[in-house]
Amino acid sequence: MKKMILALVGAGLVAGSLAAHASPDADRKQLTEYLKKKAPKIKVDQYVNGALIYDKDAMAQYQSIMDFPPFENVVELGKKMWETPFANGKTYASCFPNGGKNVAGNYPMFDDKQGKVVTFEMAINACREANGEKPFDYSGKDIGVLTSYARTLSDGMKMNVKVQSAAAKEAYERGKHFFYQRRGQLNFSCASCHVDNAGHRLRSELLSPALGQATHWPVFRGGDSLVTLQQRYVGCNKQVRAEAFKPGSEEYNDLEYFHSYMSNGLPMKASVFRK
Ligand code: HEC
Repeated sequence: MKKMILALVGAGLVAGSLAAHASPDADRKQLTEYLKKKAPKIKVDQYVNGALIYDKDAMAQYQSIMDFPPFENVVELGKKMWETPFANGKTYASCFPNGGKNVAGNYPMFDDKQGKVVTFEMAINACREANGEKPFDYSGKDIGVLTSYARTLSDGMKMNVKVQSAAAKEAYERGKHFFYQRRGQLNFSCASCHVDNAGHRLRSELLSPALGQATHWPVFRGGDSLVTLQQRYVGCNKQVRAEAFKPGSEEYNDLEYFHSYMSNGLPMKASVFRK
């Protein structure tokens, strides 16, 4: 097994790596061009479908599952949570512009006052605290269920992450560094699998391209197992037997900032089925 994995990574070493300190937009363009060159027939706006873009049968199966999503009841539960007023009578919608419609694609955003990246999930928790409620555990179930609905309010919005101040650029660079740093016993970076080997198989699984990966969370694996984006980071870190961080950690928030920026311009959709 290990041999097979290493052979896979040897195939495309460093080809897709980005220059340090380039502008975020230059990074995104370079990555887009690289992935386009690898698979010229696939349109970039298809990348939101992840590994399904390389497998017609899996795509057809996905589409028929999404006609009647088996996780609809969970999203309904999330809707109830979203609409239930806090003890003070206010709602989540009151915390966001436009009642929370077409806002999720602006996250993660860098908050210059706090000097840190704020994810959509953190903004939701900040809303709870501002209204006298306890924040949800970032790794717990509630935040996933709630966002499985809250993110549908931004379906179709194009990801629109911004990196404006010097401090924001530093957080972005930390996230980018994380993405390209090799780690774990297998010595893989995120990019080894999701850039250099996108479209190739790892064991039985086709690997999705990094672009578009941030657009469609949470996912329901197998139809009913809810996984948030940062829980997926945990899973991917563990796959290479690297130390995983906690969802909500600064490491993952910075990673999500860079990673989401790479999906800028691509349309969002919550939530989706994944194997
Ligand atoms: C050893 C290879 C490997 C490494 C390294 C790896 N992943 Fe993955 N990742 C996978 C596999 C396999 C899947 C499931 C198939 C797919 O969707 O690509 C996956 C899925 C994902 C998905 C879900 C895609 C979707 O559309 O559902 C995201 C997001 C992701 N990985 C991000 C990362 C990030 C960020 C890192 C670095 C912290 C990383 N991965 C490192 C193998 C890897």
